[in-house]
Amino acid sequence: MRKQIAAANWKMNLTFEQADQLINELLNFSFQLNDNQLVLLGVPFPYLMMAQHHLRLSNGIFVCAQNCASTSNGAYTGEVSAEMLKSMDISFVIIGHSERREYYHENNALLSEKVNKALESKVKPVFCCGEPLAVREGNNQNSFVEQQLKESLFHLSSDQIRNFIIAYEPIWAIGTGKTATSEQAQEMHAHIRNVFAEKYGMEIADSISILYGGSVKGANAADIFGKPDVDGGLVGGASLVATEFQKIINSLKA
Ligand code: 13P
Repeated sequence: MRKQIAAANWKMNLTFEQADQLINELLNFSFQLNDNQLVLLGVPFPYLMMAQHHLRLSNGIFVCAQNCASTSNGAYTGEVSAEMLKSMDISFVIIGHSERREYYHENNALLSEKVNKALESKVKPVFCCGEPLAVREGNNQNSFVEQQLKESLFHLSSDQIRNFIIAYEPIWAIGTGKTATSEQAQEMHAHIRNVFAEKYGMEIADSISILYGGSVKGANAADIFGKPDVDGGLVGGASLVATEFQKIINSLKA
């Protein structure tokens, strides 16, 4: 059965002290995660070790990086390689967030290199896709997302795609307070699963966790996560508030 996942993306927020406090607050809640549920904390690079130290005894909660380099180690000032992440026992990395696509010009071809580097180092990508508002208004979102997936992921083998994690984040719903309806999320998630089924077969498509991202909060998480093809969420703003993120975790399907 595919995993149900609540993933926090802190983005470039919080001082070290605030980050330390937020993790402590989260760990003070008693989560009842079952074997099928995962919590990921996507923290900024400088806080990875601190978060890793806090979470070493927690069950089902893992540290996640927000990015990795498209190259192996070498003369790339300021970059962080997947191999470095793995050497710190960080096993998850967000790749292809729309903010990186937009502000740092990361395109589908570059993202496919990042996915390769992560997989080579046994770091699991949380691969983001999603359309801008103009594409949604033109009703072209299905082909837009399909192209993102094909250009960055379709070179992978069936074994590499099995249990993959995708995050569908419509750009118009990120940080805007404007959430896609649970029906819109379900419709796109079913489409994404179908795109994988056509290439890799239904059994593999069914093993992929597809998370929804875009203004998820405690009040709407259960409705969105309740849809059959929505396997949890990638959460920005609401993941910075411990009680909100707790509600989101508690909204995961069993
Ligand atoms: P918000 O939850 O703040 O809308 O951000 C979503 C997001 O971009 C998570 O990666």
